[in-house]
Amino acid sequence: MSNYHIKHLEEYYQVYRKSVREPENFWEEIAEEHFMWQKKWDKVLSWDFSKPEVKWFGGAQLNITENCIDRHLPTRGDKTAILFEPNNPNDPAEHITYNQLHDRVNQFANVLKSQGITKGDRVCIYLPMIPELAIATLACARIGAIHSVVFAGFSATALSTRINDSDCKIVITSDGSYRGSKTIDLKGIVDEALESCPGIKNVLVAKRINTDIHMEAGRDQWLQPLLEEASTVCKAEVMNAEDPLFILYTSGSTGKPKGMVHTTAGYMVYTAYTFKNIFQYKENDVYWCTADIGWITGHSYILYGPLTNGATTVLFEGVPSYPDFGRFWEIVEKHKVNQFYTAPTAIRALAKQGVELVEKYDLSSLKVLGSVGEPINEEAWHWYNDNVGKKKSPIVDTWWQTETGGIMISPIPFVTPTKPTYATLPFIGIQPALMDEEGQELKGNQVDGRLCIKFPWPSMARTIWGNHQRYKDTYFSAYENKYFTGDGALRDEVGYYRITGRVDDVIIVSGHNLGTAPIEDAVNEHPAVAESAIVGFPHDIKGNALYGYVILKDFGETRDHNNLRKEINQMITESIGPIAKLDKIQFTVGLPKTRSGKIMRRILRKIASKDTSNLGDTSTLLNPEVVQEIMDNVL
Ligand code: PRX
Repeated sequence: MSNYHIKHLEEYYQVYRKSVREPENFWEEIAEEHFMWQKKWDKVLSWDFSKPEVKWFGGAQLNITENCIDRHLPTRGDKTAILFEPNNPNDPAEHITYNQLHDRVNQFANVLKSQGITKGDRVCIYLPMIPELAIATLACARIGAIHSVVFAGFSATALSTRINDSDCKIVITSDGSYRGSKTIDLKGIVDEALESCPGIKNVLVAKRINTDIHMEAGRDQWLQPLLEEASTVCKAEVMNAEDPLFILYTSGSTGKPKGMVHTTAGYMVYTAYTFKNIFQYKENDVYWCTADIGWITGHSYILYGPLTNGATTVLFEGVPSYPDFGRFWEIVEKHKVNQFYTAPTAIRALAKQGVELVEKYDLSSLKVLGSVGEPINEEAWHWYNDNVGKKKSPIVDTWWQTETGGIMISPIPFVTPTKPTYATLPFIGIQPALMDEEGQELKGNQVDGRLCIKFPWPSMARTIWGNHQRYKDTYFSAYENKYFTGDGALRDEVGYYRITGRVDDVIIVSGHNLGTAPIEDAVNEHPAVAESAIVGFPHDIKGNALYGYVILKDFGETRDHNNLRKEINQMITESIGPIAKLDKIQFTVGLPKTRSGKIMRRILRKIASKDTSNLGDTSTLLNPEVVQEIMDNVL
């Protein structure tokens, strides 16, 4: 069916129009022809954004693991499903075929059952990027337990908050994890977290680093012996379309993390369809997303999207800098990766190392490059395009969120002409709207506003676990009858979207709306600048003024700082105008970042505003130590 796999721009517009005019017919056709259902739906869609309530494929029954695994067995049983690349490049990669994945998921599912886990129970998974993580996640789905994967870089406090919020029954973890040349005592973190989690009576521990760890009698059990004894047969639980598949926490701008709830059928259909088109996956391609399964990118585009398509998906345990900064490219060469999906922060870190480490490897297998998680600045886009893609592999700048479940705005490679820093066109079925301050929709092109979505899509989160009111307040209250993304965006003269960043990152200076991303682009163009972040701080006359935190490349550090400040402001003046000049520029060795690589602007804003009384919990940052360093040198 041609609608399933779009091959040229005209076809995109045609299919897009159909998806908007007849959304129910459109999604029904996709769902009919490409998935395995135990029972078909009674109604494709019912929705009411004022409640908000959204149901896709109501009345249908299915199990997502039958779609990810069982139905591929007759034709792809011996094909590699998961290609595990360990932290140490000298250890062999592991090829897990669809047949093996079937057996291992079923064994794990039977172990969970033997621990008393049943449909609807919450299971916390706190594991490094090893096969057990993928298998545990799928095993939950097999028996209808709701997985809550917590990124294994989170602290004990962050872990216990998440376990308690969704009242998990069991924790699955490992004795430790490898991270480059270091090991991390994961089990120690779990032990500490569980001191404040009275609900957890059972912990399953995978052996990974073979260290001596404390095993709490009556609570902790080694996983491997249980798996070995378990049967490879486990009937897939019958799930209703709207039964929760997983909870995934995302941090809000205020308050405790939000447990976004994703349900089964719509999530499956949308992640599968986006994966197929946005990565142009072809049978026998090797696809690699460098995210961690602990994030939505890993859920949707390491596991569910690729596996529903019968793809080979790489699972990488390590880090881009170990044993050196060439590791990503070494893996691309070694496994002949065809689609490579990563984050701008990684691209910038690698670009800083110079091109020699890229040129050392044969990257000719690459066909499509992806970017996700934050706006990709122009310099990083070109570096990626020139040095990794050799100007032959289109970059798909994919905009989406934990809440959206799947990619919402993105080029389709070889279909949509790309444009640096633009996520380009809405994906099929997605109806964006840009809103002005007064709540009016901005029609036409060349407009700039707040990004909303005005019609439901299949993979949208349905609620916040235990707090539907917060879900309504956060996403459906700013604009009537619309989902508010919290992002700003502009639509250019041809209808392409450029995400300008979180709305709270937009700074109004002397009555002018300035997005931080384009100013940072300008600053980053300076040859001595490695990275920058710009925030607003209160100013007597202008209302707000701009404060820049700038990381210099090695050679820049020896330069006269006042001259550098002048040069940077000159670049901004040239690229945007004098209004965007920075009042203060602080040179720093690092920027506080979340574990997913996002700059914590809230902290930077507070420091720039000299308001450091309540910085919040900085312990979950990637680099908490830079906060003090920045405070000590604030201007
Ligand atoms: O601000 C947008 C930014 O990341 C936010 C969502 O973050 P999270 O829920 O952690 O999910 C990240 C992975 C999907 C968005 O509100 N963002 C994500 N992708 C892009 C982006 N900003 C610009 N361009 C993108 N491609």
